[in-house]
Amino acid sequence: MPDVETTPEIDLDAIDSEEAAARAAGQLREALRYHNYRYYVLDDPVVSDADYDHLFQQLQEIEDEYPDLQTPDSPTHQVGGLVRDELGTVPHPSPMLSLKAVYEEADVRNFDETCRDELGRETVTYTAEPKFDGLAVELIYEDGQLVQAATRGDGETGEEITANVKTIEGVPLRLRDDERPVPDRLVVRGEAYMRMDEFNAFNRRREEEGKKPFANPRNAAAGSLRQLDSNITARRPLRIFFYEVADDGRDFDTHAEVLRVLPEWGLRVCKEHIRLCDGIDAALSHYEEVVGVRDDLPYEIDGLVIKVNDFAGHGTLGVRDRDPRWAVAYKFPPRRATTTIEDIFVQVGRTGRITPVAVLAPVEVGGVEVTRASLHNQNEIDRKDIRIGDRALIERAGDVIPQVVKVIEDERDGSEEPYHIPDTCPVCNAEVILSDDKKQAFCTGGMTCEAQFRERLKHYASREATDLEGLGDKRAEQLIDASLIERISDLYEIEKEDLLTLERYADKSAQNLIDEIEASLEQAFDRFIYALGIPLVGSATARLLAQNFTSLDDLMEAPEAQLRALDEIGPEVAHSIVTFFADDDNRAVIDEIRGAGLTLNNPYAEDEASLGDLTFVFTGSLDRYTRSEAKRLVEQHGANATSSVSGHTDYVVAGPGAGRKRDDAQELGVPVLDEGEFIDLLRSQGLDA
Ligand code: IVH
Repeated sequence: MPDVETTPEIDLDAIDSEEAAARAAGQLREALRYHNYRYYVLDDPVVSDADYDHLFQQLQEIEDEYPDLQTPDSPTHQVGGLVRDELGTVPHPSPMLSLKAVYEEADVRNFDETCRDELGRETVTYTAEPKFDGLAVELIYEDGQLVQAATRGDGETGEEITANVKTIEGVPLRLRDDERPVPDRLVVRGEAYMRMDEFNAFNRRREEEGKKPFANPRNAAAGSLRQLDSNITARRPLRIFFYEVADDGRDFDTHAEVLRVLPEWGLRVCKEHIRLCDGIDAALSHYEEVVGVRDDLPYEIDGLVIKVNDFAGHGTLGVRDRDPRWAVAYKFPPRRATTTIEDIFVQVGRTGRITPVAVLAPVEVGGVEVTRASLHNQNEIDRKDIRIGDRALIERAGDVIPQVVKVIEDERDGSEEPYHIPDTCPVCNAEVILSDDKKQAFCTGGMTCEAQFRERLKHYASREATDLEGLGDKRAEQLIDASLIERISDLYEIEKEDLLTLERYADKSAQNLIDEIEASLEQAFDRFIYALGIPLVGSATARLLAQNFTSLDDLMEAPEAQLRALDEIGPEVAHSIVTFFADDDNRAVIDEIRGAGLTLNNPYAEDEASLGDLTFVFTGSLDRYTRSEAKRLVEQHGANATSSVSGHTDYVVAGPGAGRKRDDAQELGVPVLDEGEFIDLLRSQGLDA
């Protein structure tokens, strides 16, 4: 462990001069940088998130109090801020090359033969590393500070995205020099990407907000980095793997050495899947290994990059066109394939949404057998002119449902049949309503549609909703098939004996499920809102509602205007919520669940004891609380704590040693409390102080 105090004991109250503050800020920054490095680069944190947050807060407080002490590379600056009219362009210090892509082992062997011939060696040592599917970026550090970041652009000139890259957690604003001195100037390159799970969650949030989802993580990463407002980038789950130092010949002898040194400077590389390979056979077997784990990786890769390890070899082999002759990208089998669309049917979702699905002649796509593809909606079917009997190109990306890219019109023989979503629901026969743009179709069967109910029950029991682990999809279907349950509230009427009549239930599993159902009556408000399955209300919206309504009754009676007054809720969502609670059946089900003993607790509700909207400033040293504790205390009860006194300040709480802020308060006529008076104020508001 280097010479860093990982959790410096800093008593903010004892900081009485700018000099002392500067010292403390220095220690805190050093500690925070070290923890960022442990977390993002080594993947091996040594403090808890809470401890990290505490250090961060302390630094923030010092920087608020002494703005002169702020530095551009402070860890507190890793947030958005800059809004521009357009992205400028910057030249790359040396061209950003591309890679020759090959798909066959024979081509990789040819590459190896060329390398061996031209280098005059019997075997060549290669590095083999994943080809990340994201957006190439170049970062320039001068004297250890991040001064510029750019996209690849045309290879000669890229778009300047410095402010955006600075928001990516894990990108050091200043290089570490604990283990190795940093060069005056360092040009590093890597790939910005989104993890699959973070991309999916991000896309779900977008859909909940009525925004168009991104097609894949690569597009999402590229779109996020090319934002004009870095505040937007700051909210996107971006990450980077570094893989190259430009002008490498200068300070390093081999690529493996580069990959070893980058993390020492705080620049993250993909350690797990990089191999140093003696000869091409080793690289080829690493390829097989990576193909095997590809689907389990949290991020998308589309091949293996095989590079001659030594830079002397790079010099000899040189560059042809835009591609270095010392490297090759051995791409994975395409996740595309052609097959026949044998049939099309519709699925009825929990909110009645109707989705057309193609039944495919089984085909292997990127190593997985595929038999279904989502067709999304009628508009998509019309636009791509998808017909039953067509030959079609299918694509599968990560864990996304396979899609039809296009149909192959040349292969039609005239027997193909156009498809239209049916006018009535195939399950309950109720009318199907198709929107004017044909992008949405709904079954109007509501509570009476069994298909909708099946999905609703599964949703109600799902992990983010009531989390009934013992009621997975199969068991939910089983209860419906056995007519044990016709509406959600019936769940709470089920008896153990009922379950014992079903297959796959033993005494213990039946009792477990009964207990679990009973326990689910004590429920967090936001989860219950989500569990209700209100169309367009996902878990983020449910949380927002829980934060803004004190009880289920308040929410059920809320008029549309009140819902729309919440920032993140648009007209469609507000309308959907009001419509849901206006429905007699829905109200009856909720009443029945309440009758069974529902108790909702709301972790987000404001305390009864609340400090309302008061704004406090703390200064000097306090006895009973530290300043940060006092700050946290009032914030927990809905009040604000700021670092400078203004016309908006309600109280200044001053302890011994208070200086300028007390004077400011007196000048502005803001009441000044000592600590005793502050505690009295808290108690008078019903707080336990
Ligand atoms: S090396 C000359 N290594 O692939 C060497 N590139 O097709 C060029 N890429 O623009 C870069 N993973 O965006 C390298 N491990 C890796 C890579 C990688 C992804 C991308 C990079 C580059 C493109 C070239």
